[in-house]
Amino acid sequence: MINYRSLRVALLGGGTVGAQVARILLEHRDELTSRIGATLDLVGIAVRDLKAPRSADLPKELFTTDAESLILGSDIVIEVMGGLEPARTYILQALNSGADVVTANKALLANHGPELFAAAEQVGAQLYFEAAVAGAIPIIRPLRDSLAGDRVNRVMGIVNGTTNYILDAMDATGSSFDDALAVATELGYAEADPTADVDAFDAAQKVAILAGLAFHTHVPLDKVHREGIRSVTGQTVDFARKAGYVVKLLAIAERVTDPDTGEEGVSARVYPALISREHPLAAVRKANNAVFVEAEAAGSLMFYGAGAGGPETASAIMGDVVSAARRHVIGGPGQAESSYATIPVLPISHITTRYHVTLSVADQPGALAAVANVFSTHGVSVELVEQGVLGTEAVQEAEETTATLVIGTHAALESDLASTVTALSQLDAVRSVVSVLRIEGA
Ligand code: NAP
Ligand code: HSE
Repeated sequence: MINYRSLRVALLGGGTVGAQVARILLEHRDELTSRIGATLDLVGIAVRDLKAPRSADLPKELFTTDAESLILGSDIVIEVMGGLEPARTYILQALNSGADVVTANKALLANHGPELFAAAEQVGAQLYFEAAVAGAIPIIRPLRDSLAGDRVNRVMGIVNGTTNYILDAMDATGSSFDDALAVATELGYAEADPTADVDAFDAAQKVAILAGLAFHTHVPLDKVHREGIRSVTGQTVDFARKAGYVVKLLAIAERVTDPDTGEEGVSARVYPALISREHPLAAVRKANNAVFVEAEAAGSLMFYGAGAGGPETASAIMGDVVSAARRHVIGGPGQAESSYATIPVLPISHITTRYHVTLSVADQPGALAAVANVFSTHGVSVELVEQGVLGTEAVQEAEETTATLVIGTHAALESDLASTVTALSQLDAVRSVVSVLRIEGA
């Protein structure tokens, strides 16, 4: 009989994700031992409330409210509590004691990543975070390892399951925003405060992490442009469908050229955008996520799968736990953070994309020409114009005097589009600017 070395594993958090991590550690203990060459001993699960119900049947004696005692003497600490504090303090304690840490906490990484990575590097410990972006989908490791020899130019994806669930339900079943959010929460996809999902804080944190990895540079969270999905109404979704598009909350990180200096910059942004129904991202349904990576030599790669949920996220955590455990068995330095490049993060005004502008205009001669003139004056090239195809309730009420004008543009600078929209709203012929949506994924 082989006498396997034992590795002490502390679990901080026993909620949606934590309970599933504990279940896998206990149920697959023997198999994991064979894969690692050491036994993973779950020494305890730190929670706030010892009486709270758990999604898995776990031994009561494992639960404790004393996280610090669990951390002391552990080889691997798994942080699935969420939030900034005390998670940050616990992770620093764990790293400083020499433990490797596995976390799913994108909020913490996006806010305090450099501090945590520096602490890890100082003591030669490792900080793993595959579960922090896109749930079960392996995307951190591909960016960090598999594409380490290539040059990534763009990452575009759906990285928030809750908002994709909501937008998909609104598109597929005509469900209301509130009903769809309630189901997503019930299914365990939403954050404790769903504002993090709906207002795209969660997706912004994830795109900051992805951009940092993709471009080997630090992307501060406050430099990520963020627009959530509260402005997306049933009517917007309807507009999009009739025009052959679907609305998705897209997280985009790309290399861009600064239009002012001609120097290279990085853009990191998240907003609801239109994508063609033919685009592969349009087929990402329910709480699934997908990430497109465009790299110089590899070309386009797509990573797809479950972006949230207890067992799904636990799978990504466990991959990291096995990596950490193997490092303990075999040794070696593991991987340091790679943020040697200091590329400026450019504001949204500096990006170039296509736009879909819906106007309510006076139905009279010269209105179209006046509108077209505004676009051309501000350097925005119009690709297509459709009149009266997509009505709004407001427009329909005043049918005799107004018409709907839908303008699709060629790629244009965001600052030029913004001045176009301001000028349009001041035009006599324009009753209102009904919506302005970006079009991505040509
Ligand atoms: P959750 O269901 O709210 O669970 C949080 C757990 O942490 C609970 O067991 C809670 O204890 C415990 N906890 C919170 N604060 C604590 C404290 N101060 N001391 C001790 N224990 C504490 O959260 P979750 O959905 O599992 O998410 C955990 C982490 O994974 C978050 O960082 C989240 O962003 C990330 N994540 C979640 C998903 C997902 O689909 N849910 C996907 C990817 C990443 P009680 O149970 O006693 O309240
Ligand atoms: N609330 C997040 C989501 C969980 O809906 O995607 C996964 O990070």
